Amino acid sequence: MARTILITGATSGIGLALAHRLGDERLVLVGRRSIDELDDAVLSTNGFSTDNYCQCDLAEPSAGETIAAWCESQGIDAIDVLINNAGVGWTGPFWEQPVASIRELVAVNLAAPISVTQRLLPLLRRAGGEVVFVSSVVSTVAFPDMGVYVATKKALDGFVRSLRAEEPDGDVSFRVVHPGATNTAMPGKVGVPATTYERWPSASSVADGIVESLDSRSRNRAIGLPNKALRAAGVVAPGTVSLFARRRGPSTPPLAEPNHPPRALVTGAADGIGRALTLKYAAEGYEVVGIDHDQARAADVVDIAPGGRVSMRHVDLATSDVAWVRDEDPFDVVVHNAGISAVGAFESVDAKEHERVIAVNFLAPLLLTRELMASAKVTAGGRIVLMSSLSHFTGYPGAAVYAATKDGLEMYGRTLQSSLHPAVRVTTVFPGPTRTAHARRYSPDNSNERRRMAPEDLAELIFDSNRARLVPGPSGKVSAVVGRVAPRGGEALMRRLVFAKMDE
Ligand SMILES: NC(=O)c1ccc[n+]([C@@H]2O[C@H](COP(=O)([O-])OP(=O)(O)OC[C@H]3O[C@@H](n4cnc5c(N)ncnc54)[C@H](OP(=O)(O)O)[C@@H]3O)[C@@H](O)[C@H]2O)c1
Repeated sequence: MARTILITGATSGIGLALAHRLGDERLVLVGRRSIDELDDAVLSTNGFSTDNYCQCDLAEPSAGETIAAWCESQGIDAIDVLINNAGVGWTGPFWEQPVASIRELVAVNLAAPISVTQRLLPLLRRAGGEVVFVSSVVSTVAFPDMGVYVATKKALDGFVRSLRAEEPDGDVSFRVVHPGATNTAMPGKVGVPATTYERWPSASSVADGIVESLDSRSRNRAIGLPNKALRAAGVVAPGTVSLFARRRGPSTPPLAEPNHPPRALVTGAADGIGRALTLKYAAEGYEVVGIDHDQARAADVVDIAPGGRVSMRHVDLATSDVAWVRDEDPFDVVVHNAGISAVGAFESVDAKEHERVIAVNFLAPLLLTRELMASAKVTAGGRIVLMSSLSHFTGYPGAAVYAATKDGLEMYGRTLQSSLHPAVRVTTVFPGPTRTAHARRYSPDNSNERRRMAPEDLAELIFDSNRARLVPGPSGKVSAVVGRVAPRGGEALMRRLVFAKMDE
């Protein structure tokens, strides 16, 4: 019997080749353009019709709703395979990427697969189906000219890892495929010359690889032998592989002269780790600008800061407002600390909460970094700190979208490092449980709160560290090693210690 297979981004490239290859199945083809805008050749050879074509702009937060409503209108109540294929790219120096493009990449490559999957899970469960996420082999390689793109793909990898860990033997299976450079419309759209990408593997060969992966046991599959090798190298030795990807050209972002006294910018400065960092930098003689939306707590930090060296800006990072950066003097240190979570089984969390997690934890640092660099607001010899999470190593069932954003930040940190080294130091921090309101709010069990690291100790470590990657504390280091060496064991442990307790 024909399976019901839904493919996003079915109007071009790999998605179109998948539609062609899977033509004997019952297809639901999702595309951005109206059916009237599609090429006649596309329509005639690939079975597009008003009965199986769902027009949906995946950059819209309502994408999941739109597709689910369309399926309902067509009487589709079960889906065997969902292929989250649609994607957009951009290449160039990261500080030149237009804001609209950053938003589009985060929306289409990350937020849409999350919302579409969440909304369609009941239909997938009915069929005992599977979900395929089309990532990219570059999700393990820190190409500096593709910073936001590789970060979205890495975030997708992290999301699926944690989602899968919620129910490893559940009704629905989740798989990530990693194509490499493919001859589709995408490279042309991002400025790769045709003479280069015409030599790359065809979309149909990549579609064949994806179809072969369906029903297989592999959870992550690179498509094609060279990509398998590149991905394996990227997973085992990401730092070494990324060295090859480093920018060689002369292009560097405009940097400002160092300040005397130095200036620091800390997001999420009113509480927890951000508060401790703000006070630490102030105590060390920095003038600190804190960003927070909690005015009362922010005022408290200003009051107790030594030497009156802290000022606060009231900004809600979820609104992606970065215009205020232009009114600021340059910063010697920028700490992207603000973060929120949304915990519980993936399906049970409100989609709006997921959107907010993506906006605050991931989109905001991307937009802020771009704005700071584009307007020369970071000093030569300065430092950027990104607050990822120990979940990067262990996975985080029960907070899959949070884990996605933290993996995305990890990769973004690598690409910043590749772009900016040695002019600006980049440190990515992977804190484990820390004694803050954040951990208390999201943890299902606070009985051992005293064992968590004090935010002041973490702030000291971050201030003093010269490392590109900092895993604080002995237990964090052990967890990171376990997560790397025995990922499934680490995920099982997180499931037992964290996820299982969320229902209690
Ligand atoms: N090509 C490569 O080298 C390569 C390598 C690794 C991974 N990938 C990944 O493979 C997937 C497919 O890429 P491709 O190479 O086939 O690219 P493509 O030829 O540009 O096709 C992308 C598809 O996504 C659709 N899309 C883009 N924005 C959308 C939106 N807002 N709403 C709905 N649909 C939207 C496009 O619609 P329109 O036709 O209307 O634009 C098109 O159907 C992507 O996830 C990409 O990241 C590609």
